[in-house]
Amino acid sequence: MKNDLSKILVSEQQIDEMTSSLAKKIEEDYKDSKKELVALCILKGSLVFTADLIRKINIPVSLEFMKVSSYGAGTVSSGKINIQLDMSRTDYENIDILVIEDIIDSGYTLSLLLELLKERGANSVKTCTLLNKPERRKIDLKPDYFGAVIPDEFVVGYGLDYNEKYRNLPYIGVLDPKIYT
Ligand code: IMP
Ligand code: MG
Repeated sequence: MKNDLSKILVSEQQIDEMTSSLAKKIEEDYKDSKKELVALCILKGSLVFTADLIRKINIPVSLEFMKVSSYGAGTVSSGKINIQLDMSRTDYENIDILVIEDIIDSGYTLSLLLELLKERGANSVKTCTLLNKPERRKIDLKPDYFGAVIPDEFVVGYGLDYNEKYRNLPYIGVLDPKIYT
C-alpha cells in the first residue's frame, strides 16, 4: 500500500498531536454545557479519527453514526442530502452535536447535513474535521475545529479511501496520481 503513495503528508505522531490538541479544545468548550455532548461520526471515513478523538476527550460524550452523501456534488448544489444511515436519537433539544468529519472538500455534504440537524432542533451543532481543503470549497463553510489545512491533493489513509482501499493505513499520504490516471 505504501508504494502507492507519492508522499506521507501527516505522520502518525502528527496525527496523535492533532487529536490531542483538538480533544483539549473540545473539552474546554463543552465542559460547562448542561446538555449532552454527542459525537456524530460520519461514516465511513471518520471512523478512525472519531475513535482516537473521543478517547482523548475527558468529559462525558455519547457516540452516534450517520452515513450521508449529497446528490449532484460537483455541480451547483442540488440541495439534496441522501441519508443511508441515520442517528438513533430523537431528543434533539437535549443534545449538543459535534459532527466529526475526515475531510472537508467542496463542503456540500457537510453544509446540507448541518442544515438538517439544525432543522431537527439540536441545541447546538458544531463541526470538527481532521483535514481541511479550503482551496476546493464550493460553499462558504468553516469548520469549528480542524486538525490541518492541506493542499488540493487526493489523500488516503487513517480512514480515508480511494475505492474503499487504504483506510487502514495509520498515517495520511498523497495517493500517487498513477493509481487513478
Ligand atoms: P465534500 O466536502 O462534500 O466535497 O465531500 C467530502 C467527502 O469527499 C469526504 O467525506 C471524503 O469522503 C471525500 N473526499 C474528499 N477529498 C478527499 C481526499 O482527498 N481523499 C479521500 N476522500 C476525499
Ligand atoms: Mg470516500
